[in-house]
Amino acid sequence: MNSILNRSDDSPTVDERHLMFDDLEKLGRILVETGDVAHSFIQGADNMDVTCRDFSAFDPSRPIPGQGRGALDALRAAKEEILPLLAASIGPRYLGFVTGGTTPAALVGDWLASAIDQNATGPEGSANAAVEEQVINWLCELGGVPSDTFDGVLTTGATVSNLLGLVAARQWCGEQVGVNVDADGASVLPDLEIFAASPHASMVKDLSIAGIGRNSFTKVATKPGSEETDIADLKAKLVASDARAKIIIASAGTVNATDFDNLDVIADLCRDFGAWLHVDAAFGFFTALDDRRAHLTKGIARADSITSDGHKWLNVPYDCGIFLTRHISVLETCCRAFAPYLDTKADGNSYINRGVENSRRFRALPLWMAMTAYGRDGIASIIRANCDQAANLAAWIRTHEKLELLSEPKLNVTMFASRGTDDENRALLQRINETGKVFLTPTVYGGRFGFRAAFSNWRTRDEDLVVVKQAIQTAL
Ligand SMILES: Cc1ncc(COP(=O)(O)O)c(C=O)c1O
Repeated sequence: MNSILNRSDDSPTVDERHLMFDDLEKLGRILVETGDVAHSFIQGADNMDVTCRDFSAFDPSRPIPGQGRGALDALRAAKEEILPLLAASIGPRYLGFVTGGTTPAALVGDWLASAIDQNATGPEGSANAAVEEQVINWLCELGGVPSDTFDGVLTTGATVSNLLGLVAARQWCGEQVGVNVDADGASVLPDLEIFAASPHASMVKDLSIAGIGRNSFTKVATKPGSEETDIADLKAKLVASDARAKIIIASAGTVNATDFDNLDVIADLCRDFGAWLHVDAAFGFFTALDDRRAHLTKGIARADSITSDGHKWLNVPYDCGIFLTRHISVLETCCRAFAPYLDTKADGNSYINRGVENSRRFRALPLWMAMTAYGRDGIASIIRANCDQAANLAAWIRTHEKLELLSEPKLNVTMFASRGTDDENRALLQRINETGKVFLTPTVYGGRFGFRAAFSNWRTRDEDLVVVKQAIQTAL
């Protein structure tokens, strides 16, 4: 073994790369064994506890080993020490947040993306940028927006896509009044006003990151008992505004009540008041694939920018966000990264100039694999099935003597609570999750504490709903 422990300063340098070269020689076996470990985790997610409630066995403070033992040994350690402590978030009864699973083709695409390890910056000597371009076009088709008008970029998630929406909108607003925020900073546009009724928490965070301020938006009223923008209030606030620069943030699928704004009417207001329309459609974008609900996103093609996600309802692995805009050159103004060493003069889209990151994962590949493997119809069937499941759970709750819906589900989320107090509901949520059969997350809606069951996983089947209902019943 040509490695040395407790090396003194003058000891010879040791080349530990032999471990890596040994691993390279047996890479075929390593990949097969990794496939086996992954496969049993994925299969096991049907039956394992949905969340791990005690991971104290894992010691985050353990020091890094001086000497490694190679990939197979590390794989065994991960299998024994880490995998048993994880959540079955890939499985069918993890209904927390808005958590997509991973279709087999998307998983394989993601593995390939790691194996071939492209830095998906642009078209220099690799087709990765062309693949991203095709994937963006396909995503436009799925969401029902014209791909000859919209262009975009893949991001790490909807949070960053919302940030890009804000930054591009602010730049465009500045250009309308003859100032250049990109060059001269936000202070040259002091009279920017942002209007939002139900901005997602990520958008509020982005207001802070963009230097606008998380409290610096005009809160528009929502319709009674809903998260949908109250159009009369929005109009009144636009009329009252003397800001020269305006951004309206609308929702196509709010995270609790899955409400959709009337995008057509809001687009008319944007036209009349010279405002940029950003639509947060993190998961709602794909509603267009369910012909029973496609009307909900009507008008989305009139947006200036749209946020969506791959790692939610498209069921590709984390992380994968989507940003689309009809003003790609404005986005490129804000995000361009120029240096002589980056100036390769290659033809094609340079994604380095469209987002936050310079170095980027080849996120287009898992999307491409998923869309190639299952097509538009396959993806549509996930959307339809999950909406049916949310409706099925809601129907059971509606007739349950101890439970009540907090709102009627329009899409894939069922929000409910017991008829008890908030404290009783907090305890009930804990008991439901402690069954290990399902994972729900909390919310507050209409001033009440409740639970969200968000159906976003292609693997959820009717028999899972039976288990979910049993778990809730047991915990009551
Ligand atoms: C409407 C909406 N916007 C934005 C986000 C943030 O998404 P991400 O976690 O992918 O950044 C979410 C997450 O649930 C969401 O539901």
